[in-house]
Amino acid sequence: MAGNLEWEIATMREQMTQIATPRKFPMRKPDNHQPVIQRYSSQVSEDVSSIRVATLGFQGKAGPRDNLTAFLDFIDNAFAKIGKPNHHDIANFVDTQGYSTAMAVCYWLDEDDYSAWLEKFDLWWGAHDPEALENGLWFESFSVPPPYRETNLFQEYLRGVSACPMTRIEPMSESGYWGAARDRFSASAHDDFSPEQNVELQYDPHRDTLRKHIKVSDIPSQLCVIRSGVTWANCGEEQLESYETNLKPKLDKGMTYLRENPVDTGCCSLRQVTCLEADGSAQEEAYSLGIFLTYRHLERWAHDHPTHLAIYTRALAERKKYQENLELLTYHEICVLNEDVRFEYINCHPDTGLLPYFTNNAADQ
Ligand code: HEM
Repeated sequence: MAGNLEWEIATMREQMTQIATPRKFPMRKPDNHQPVIQRYSSQVSEDVSSIRVATLGFQGKAGPRDNLTAFLDFIDNAFAKIGKPNHHDIANFVDTQGYSTAMAVCYWLDEDDYSAWLEKFDLWWGAHDPEALENGLWFESFSVPPPYRETNLFQEYLRGVSACPMTRIEPMSESGYWGAARDRFSASAHDDFSPEQNVELQYDPHRDTLRKHIKVSDIPSQLCVIRSGVTWANCGEEQLESYETNLKPKLDKGMTYLRENPVDTGCCSLRQVTCLEADGSAQEEAYSLGIFLTYRHLERWAHDHPTHLAIYTRALAERKKYQENLELLTYHEICVLNEDVRFEYINCHPDTGLLPYFTNNAADQ
């Protein structure tokens, strides 16, 4: 049991928070719950009003290596012209249509920094001629107020927003029971994440999107984005074999299910990527980046579907077995979005990102 000082401090902090702010919706955490192992969450300082995340994607049909070199040049040139975000990382994957794709996920904790970056970005982005591009490009950006994001991580494995220099890492006791993620959103005290509108996904992957610059509109508010990652870099032989034999196939099955069933699950996009070093070499880590219609859609899959239950059960068994000696490290961050979203695609195939679901408008150039 993680009955250590850190856990006790986390519990006291939570009790103090509850006294200070009465909840409309109760915590899901069972009384006297103690997690099997200590997990952490990342917090931002009080003066951060929103976290900005933007994904810059590069879609090409060439073999992974050729495409990667082109992507690295592209991203180097882009950041040289428009400046770097507060923090970013890069990854690649082959998408459902066989397009080898790479992307940079960029983070800002300072909206002024982002606005200054965006001004330069817009000039650079708007100058791309969709008719002349050999590859596809996308820009998917959103902001999220801190109460509408949560993280679950190990303190020695910080990725995504938790790797931003201005975040601090705190132990927490909200883990290891259904509803823990919900409890970790401070907004869950007054928001139960019920859908404001009854939206059902319509899937049309045959739209005319190549050689066009498209801005997706009519995107419902409350989209939910999850980045769920894992590293096997610290695994010895035994835990590596267990990951490859027992867990990875279950993860792949779950991700395939989500990709193949967007209408039933509300999962509009699911990219299963390998993390890259700055020079393009593969790291021993990966993550899934999923966009769901609402948090409730994500939660439904995680709680009820056999594919996530298989992953979850396996992961908890390993936690119990290895406890503090667990070598496979995981994290996730979840954001519940508002209307501040921007999804644009230049010369991308019609099954990219949100293109198959919502209204596609030619962007004003
Ligand atoms: C290696 C891959 C994965 C493992 C080992 C894993 C395992 C787990 C475990 C152990 C929990 C409980 C965490 C805790 O409370 O401490 C959990 C929760 C959750 N997982 Fe996964 N998972 C994986 C991948 C994913 C992916 C790819 C998604 C979504 C696309 C996902 C969605 C969720 C959600 C939403 C929860 C929160 C459930 C709740 O607290 O109510 N997981 N997962």
